[in-house]
Amino acid sequence: MTISSSTVALITGASSGIGTALALRLAAKGARVALAARRADRLNDVAERVRAAGGTPLVLVADLSHESECRRIVDETVRAFGTIDILVNNAGRGNMASVEDTSTEQLESMMHLNVYAPFWSTAQALPVMRANDRGHIVMIASVAGRMGYPFNAAYVAAKHAVVGFTASLRAELYGTNVHATAVNPAGVITEWADATEGGPIGQLYASAIPASRVLARERGLPLAPLSRMMPADDAARIIEEAIEAGRGGDVFTHEGTHEQAVDAVRDRVAQEDAFAALYLGMQAAYAKLRSQDTV
Ligand SMILES: NC(=O)c1ccc[n+]([C@@H]2O[C@H](COP(=O)([O-])OP(=O)(O)OC[C@H]3O[C@@H](n4cnc5c(N)ncnc54)[C@H](OP(=O)(O)O)[C@@H]3O)[C@@H](O)[C@H]2O)c1
Repeated sequence: MTISSSTVALITGASSGIGTALALRLAAKGARVALAARRADRLNDVAERVRAAGGTPLVLVADLSHESECRRIVDETVRAFGTIDILVNNAGRGNMASVEDTSTEQLESMMHLNVYAPFWSTAQALPVMRANDRGHIVMIASVAGRMGYPFNAAYVAAKHAVVGFTASLRAELYGTNVHATAVNPAGVITEWADATEGGPIGQLYASAIPASRVLARERGLPLAPLSRMMPADDAARIIEEAIEAGRGGDVFTHEGTHEQAVDAVRDRVAQEDAFAALYLGMQAAYAKLRSQDTV
């Protein structure tokens, strides 16, 4: 799809990170961009920047853990701009907890925001896109939707669900001009790692990574193949390219992560062995954080 001043996009989670960066990119092409998230002040600031970049913003303050809000933001976008061409289901939050420390409340929260919300918003946008025979639904999934990561199993399970949902959606849309793409980022420099429920998982990685290097040296283990952190605008550029490409497979933003996803399918245990030093480092870091009562 060519992005222009006639394009209407709704981006959830537009108040920070990847959502903000993508909104500014679409705005630079003149698009009308609806911006949804909970923090009104942040959305108003992004709206100003969208306007300055050449786009037309619409601020939609919403807590997307609720079905009515997910459906309302789609309806308000269509009411304000007359249609919807692009829906980017980007709002998301991680968690930090071992399986046995994950409360039912946290598990439900991960599922509501990361899985149910994109499902509800997509269901609301589809009739308009089908009637136009034009549209693109983008799910911001994760490499955590392709392989396991310790101490955020609820988030990992949610992102695996998003990947399955997107594949089913694409099959349902086969033969139409409405496309669905799952984007699978690895580390992106945003607020995500500090905003995880149950404690900041960024802190866990920050102490686990140096520990994993020591463990690798001491025990003769391989160094875990970690991706480099990516600026949010680089991830947004790749998402913009996927929208412009139209029909296409799922997208891996970081070098080497597609191969890791393939490895996970081919031989999960061998792949886990490659990450052994990191996993052991994370186990030690999590036990330490727990003993300090910070998680
Ligand atoms: N950063 C990474 O390393 C990384 C890696 C892989 C995948 N991802 C995925 O990328 C997506 C974007 O994350 P990000 O990295 O840009 O993180 P971020 O900066 O923390 O942005 C998350 C966005 O989600 C919104 N949000 C959170 N809870 C919400 C709720 N209940 N209702 C409505 N909006 C809500 C936040 O806005 P409010 O707080 O204002 O509501 C914020 O705009 C997420 O789906 C994330 O899982 C991120």
